[in-house]
Amino acid sequence: MLCREKEYFEIINQIYQKVIHEENIGETANYIPELSKIDGEKFGVSLLFIDQLQFGFGDYQEKFSIQSISKVLLLALVYGEIGEKIWERVDVEPSGTPFNSLLQLESDKGIPRNPFINSGALVVCDILIGICDNPKEYFLNFIRKVSGNNTIQYSDKIAESEFTTAYRNAALTNFLKSLGNIHHSPNEVLDLYVHICSIEMTCLELSKTFSFLANKGKNLFDHQEILSNSQTKRINAIMQTCGFYDESGEFAFRVGLPGKSGVGGGIVAIMPKHYIVSVWSPKLNSKGNSYRGMKFLEEFTTATEDSIF
Ligand code: DON
Repeated sequence: MLCREKEYFEIINQIYQKVIHEENIGETANYIPELSKIDGEKFGVSLLFIDQLQFGFGDYQEKFSIQSISKVLLLALVYGEIGEKIWERVDVEPSGTPFNSLLQLESDKGIPRNPFINSGALVVCDILIGICDNPKEYFLNFIRKVSGNNTIQYSDKIAESEFTTAYRNAALTNFLKSLGNIHHSPNEVLDLYVHICSIEMTCLELSKTFSFLANKGKNLFDHQEILSNSQTKRINAIMQTCGFYDESGEFAFRVGLPGKSGVGGGIVAIMPKHYIVSVWSPKLNSKGNSYRGMKFLEEFTTATEDSIF
């Protein structure tokens, strides 16, 4: 760990300048029409230390669709509410398959491998519907509490855009229903899921929102306990092993921090007890993870020599 925060500023500045001038490979998420319209050249980075010092670079104050990054917050909410019982309906094993795969569900008898693949998050949405009256409002209030920011919103435009083309997610929800692991209406589950994915944040807001995972479960701003220390450790462990789907091993190998990606081009990574780093660049590699985001984080942890290992 570098001892002076100023050194981080200089390292990030240098890597940001280097990566922005290199080739920007990949495509924006074209299977969600609204996401395909986003400018692929956007690039923002935010670093927030747990003493609340923060640095931002490029487009770090511009909102983007956090997509699957939201699944970590969904898991935190439901895990906090029902505790270990959650693992009766979703497992904690890396899947080694793409985020929207149907392949393993039949042999696994409807228990998704982990809460970050789409099938797993759909089951967690179904659990949320069963434990509150207005799950959309309940989730939004949770995000607002965790982020310390009452302006965080769903994007109805992106949610609708995804809902109308969500053929694979509709298939997953119906398949899960047929296997007994969805208890409510598949349409209601899918509608909640696309809304949860449609949450918009800036890199800085994302870093703030995820700060409890770097701070033993406690909110950085008012020290409110969001999760216990043990639950926080477990969520970080699942991010480490499953946060990047069939590229999770690669992310651990190249970056060495727990993290989570989304098809909006965001990635958040945690150095427990030290900092949260968020990157946004919308062009995705073939695994659905931000091309520049992966590259930036690899160079960042190489230069700082930070790693949880
Ligand atoms: O369900 C989907 O396909 C999207 N709403 C979320 C997928 C996603 O973000 C995968 N992450 N890299």
